[in-house]
Amino acid sequence: MTAGQQPPPRRAVSRRAVLFSGGGLAVGAAATGTAWAATGSPSPPADPPAIPPDDDLMREHGVLKRVLLCYREMIARAQSGGQLSAVHLQDSALVIHDYIEGFHEGLEEGYVFPRLLRAGQLTATVTTLLTQHARGRVITQFILANATAGQLASPGMTARLAAAMQAFDRMYEPHEAREDTVVFPAFRQIVPPAELADLGQYFADLERQQFGKDEFTAMVERVAGIENELGIYDLNQFTPQVSQYAPPQ
Ligand SMILES: [Fe+2]
Ligand SMILES: [Fe+2]
Repeated sequence: MTAGQQPPPRRAVSRRAVLFSGGGLAVGAAATGTAWAATGSPSPPADPPAIPPDDDLMREHGVLKRVLLCYREMIARAQSGGQLSAVHLQDSALVIHDYIEGFHEGLEEGYVFPRLLRAGQLTATVTTLLTQHARGRVITQFILANATAGQLASPGMTARLAAAMQAFDRMYEPHEAREDTVVFPAFRQIVPPAELADLGQYFADLERQQFGKDEFTAMVERVAGIENELGIYDLNQFTPQVSQYAPPQ
């Protein structure tokens, strides 16, 4: 925001960010989003060129998906009587808390959902998605509060944490798939191409403002580290043998 501009009205993203991530994105979105929010034209883009905003959000979904795969591995271990690591569980939940809930969902709530609602599109879907963001944060707070070595020594708490991860996974698989296939395409339809390009740059600027760096790449590396420790990083292990499906010679 340049000097002399009026501060923007408070938005859903501000309330969420204040509650869950110390207001980092709230400050960023509120401070620099005035022009785009008010007129549909963002601040002058800075280089390097950014990817389109919906592509940006979808690659963040890739990070979410990989944490869900970590959750699934830990659920399976807990359900087979194995011991969960507080470090793995805390690290996984913190990626969700810091990057997905503390940034990605702020972009959706601050810039994607309001645009659809103003256009009268997907209103019921957006309402459900907002409810799910809120429920997800409750579950993440539960995981972060209870994923300690002391709590995980209790089979009862291990089962509750596994159930929490399962509920989170069950909700976010369809949630992100609906956003990728319905919500983001609808958003792209109603935002003119030039504005989309500027908004992509604006999202990149917000990320640098909130995290001080290319947080996507850092998060991918962080999740890869958790996958490695859980033994699910190597893609080869997921390639099925297909001899039983091959046509007879
Ligand atoms: Fe979402
Ligand atoms: Fe999303």
